[in-house]
Amino acid sequence: MTDTAPRTATRDGQLLIGAGWREAGDGTRFGVTDPASGRAVGSVPDAGQADVRAAIDAADAALDGWRALPAIERGAVLRRAAGLIRERTTPIAAVMTAEQGKPLAEAAGEVAYAAGFLEWFAGEAERIYGQIVPPSSPDKRVLVLRQPVGVTAAITPWNFPAAMLTRKLGPALAAGCTSVVKPAEATPLTAIEICRALRDAGAPDGVVNLITTSRPAMVGETLMADPRVRKLSFTGSTAVGKQLIRSSADQVKRLSLELGGHAPYIVFDDADLDSAVDQVMASKFRNAGQTCVCANRIYVQRGIHEAFRDALALRTAALVVGAGDRAGVQIGPLIDGRAVEKVRRHVEDAIAHGARLLVGGKVPEGREFAAGHFYAPTLLDGITTEMVIAQEETFGPVAGLTVFDGEDEAVRLANETPFGLAAYLQTRDYARMFRVAERLEFGIVGVNDGAPSVPSAPFGGVKQSGFGREGGAVGIDEYLDVKYVSIGGISS
Ligand code: SIN
Repeated sequence: MTDTAPRTATRDGQLLIGAGWREAGDGTRFGVTDPASGRAVGSVPDAGQADVRAAIDAADAALDGWRALPAIERGAVLRRAAGLIRERTTPIAAVMTAEQGKPLAEAAGEVAYAAGFLEWFAGEAERIYGQIVPPSSPDKRVLVLRQPVGVTAAITPWNFPAAMLTRKLGPALAAGCTSVVKPAEATPLTAIEICRALRDAGAPDGVVNLITTSRPAMVGETLMADPRVRKLSFTGSTAVGKQLIRSSADQVKRLSLELGGHAPYIVFDDADLDSAVDQVMASKFRNAGQTCVCANRIYVQRGIHEAFRDALALRTAALVVGAGDRAGVQIGPLIDGRAVEKVRRHVEDAIAHGARLLVGGKVPEGREFAAGHFYAPTLLDGITTEMVIAQEETFGPVAGLTVFDGEDEAVRLANETPFGLAAYLQTRDYARMFRVAERLEFGIVGVNDGAPSVPSAPFGGVKQSGFGREGGAVGIDEYLDVKYVSIGGISS
């Protein structure tokens, strides 16, 4: 916090369409700001509809050549890109921290996570197996093929600007699809660095195209209206996801949607206290609580409540808040003023309805926080179901505790939400671990593990958290069509 390292230099980016980097057709640009200081970080082209169409043209033109390339060669491009991303960790992390705000160490961790998706799917490219099905008559043979869906599109969020992009591009490119990607308005510069690495690694012209814009709805509509775009993958809000489902109907376009979460974290009284505190801290405060999988409702069994609450309070109060490029900082700014307002509203509503404020509960004071979007790490106790924080994802550094008595009650409370992305439980009882994990209606369950995300596991939700899986062995299926070929006239 006291380190006086110089702030990141201003950066400027361009669109990537077909053969190279370029400005928007009408020459306009928009600014990118540092959420810790409000200062300008750089600018990028403000693409219009003609640019989006040019990107789709380029992806369409590149499709035949890319899908015809042997899988091992597509995988080699992904592996080389992953290597370049790893080599460039320091500059990419600096860009990410400058535009997104997360502490540099977390940004470097995300760069490694992002490279991991390319490496994982480089391997999966070589395992796109088909089948030969036993024939229904002696003169027939039936082959099952798995083929790339075609031109794909990816709309990515600001909270993980590198990893959410490679989590979509990795399987798309491995499968033999080409892609048009649109990063969030707040974080286009990190996406540009990822696409640069793919180009430097040998991704041919038009295989990856990047559109930066301040008009996301226009891009979404243009992508959905173009019949050449066969599939769209989106990570973002449930409201936008529902809109995309509606607009996908006209052309029956394939979708993968990773939408909001509202994760419960159940701490049973047989849990190891230190591990429970460590894992809840890791889950709750990663990226200042701005993750779709972070604990948003913490249910603590009565027998361990006081000890857990007091230990969590000490750890929460000790978190170092500040600009992400300052040494030792653990909690950076939130992405913008609206995010701070939402957190403030959740905390004030909880207190007004009887919750006890144990730590934080305010915007931190001091000159270094004056121009940024900070909120102090906060711990509330006595959260009840009618409070907003128990109903909605906070997306900020606020932990709220609710006491429960029995296992059935905990499972009921945890499942009482329209969302179903991630859930967690902390226990040393192995029978309980299986029982509860199986009863939780979520796509991801962390048992004694507040950080379960890895490229090799199938990330995704159920209910209103979306559908489709990213990562894992099934991740590539989202980018493949299944076709069978029935061959007759084979007389023996
Ligand atoms: C997210 O918040 O959407 C992604 C988090 C993760 O990959 O762990």
